[in-house]
Amino acid sequence: MSVLRDSFGRAIRDLRVSLTDRCNFRCFYCLPHGEPPIAPKEKMLSYEEIEYVCGIFVSLGIEKLRLTGGEPMMRRDIETIIRKLVKFKADGLQDLALTTNGYFLPDRARGLKSAGLDRVTISLDSLKRNVFKQMTGVDVLEKVLAGIAAAKDAGLDPIKINAVIVRGHNEDEVADFAAFAREHDVKMRFIEFMPLDSGHEWDRKDVFSGREIYDRINERFPLVKLDVKRGSETSARYRFADGAAGEIGIIAPVTEPFCGACSRIRLTADGQIRTCLFSTVEHSLRDVVRSGATREEIVEFIESVVYKKEPRHFINDPGFVAPSRSMSFIGG
Ligand code: GTP
Ligand code: 5AD
Ligand code: SF4
Repeated sequence: MSVLRDSFGRAIRDLRVSLTDRCNFRCFYCLPHGEPPIAPKEKMLSYEEIEYVCGIFVSLGIEKLRLTGGEPMMRRDIETIIRKLVKFKADGLQDLALTTNGYFLPDRARGLKSAGLDRVTISLDSLKRNVFKQMTGVDVLEKVLAGIAAAKDAGLDPIKINAVIVRGHNEDEVADFAAFAREHDVKMRFIEFMPLDSGHEWDRKDVFSGREIYDRINERFPLVKLDVKRGSETSARYRFADGAAGEIGIIAPVTEPFCGACSRIRLTADGQIRTCLFSTVEHSLRDVVRSGATREEIVEFIESVVYKKEPRHFINDPGFVAPSRSMSFIGG
């Protein structure tokens, strides 16, 4: 079995593929002001190109593929690419997931499932209509809640819900989100605010820490740490002590970095490999593929890029510079 390794010996098993940098939301922690620059169509990887390179990645040991954006469903007919990617299960792919804002799920969840998607992660930053609108820029809380229900009905499983917790916005809802997880039997994940907003307005003071999140939940619903090996997972996972349904995950990249066990690389919609969420350089797989390189040459390129993966993020170091591309380009 082949495996991609970086220079620190970390095995790379997880590829996150952004299908588009467009989004119909304007979450302030990601994409706040006005119309963002969008990659021109000819620079975007076509579905054929995505299929081709993902096949190579799987042959190199990638086991998890996550489709992201922007909002992936802003790209036409993603069911087509899902149908193609799911075939790689015969070659070692184990998990095909999608990260979405949930807006299109009421109409699309069933189709995604029948195309072969395993599971979805849905962003939900508030259970209050006005706060949801303030954080995402759109007044569509009801639609996203319907999307979560539709995903469940369609049998996408497990359903993970992501909430970025930002002080002064939604930290008062942490325990309510835990109640939501219990009621709807979903995996509720709380994420520390990272400096990936396109407005570059991130401030350490706004980070509501994983510890604070834990305390808020544990006060109302006592938690028990799950007895699972964390491996390269982003979240520390908990169940409810009273045995209720649902699960809690706390993702604390700022106050408790998990880079040492990172297994992730990313491919942007315009075909750039990013070896870290916080990379300041990108590597154009698109140019290599379009130059007519052979499969062997592409493999060599990917291996050499992975070898350069950063040891960790530098958010907590003096002189930290946020990446110029915001989360909407990189994919969560
Ligand atoms: P699964 O456990 O397979 O569902 O994947 P995941 O934990 O990577 O989940 P998801 O894609 O939903 O990521 C959750 C959030 O964690 C993202 O939106 C980011 O905010 C954060 N995150 C994911 N990957 C990384 C990473 O490599 N580094 C950092 N610093 N944050 C990450
Ligand atoms: N900090 C933390 N998480 C973020 N996301 C987007 N921007 C940020 C940020 N600045 C996450 C959201 C969404 C996923 C795609 O990326 O949780 O679920
Ligand atoms: Fe991996 Fe970079 Fe995220 Fe750290 S910040 S976990 S090295 S992608």
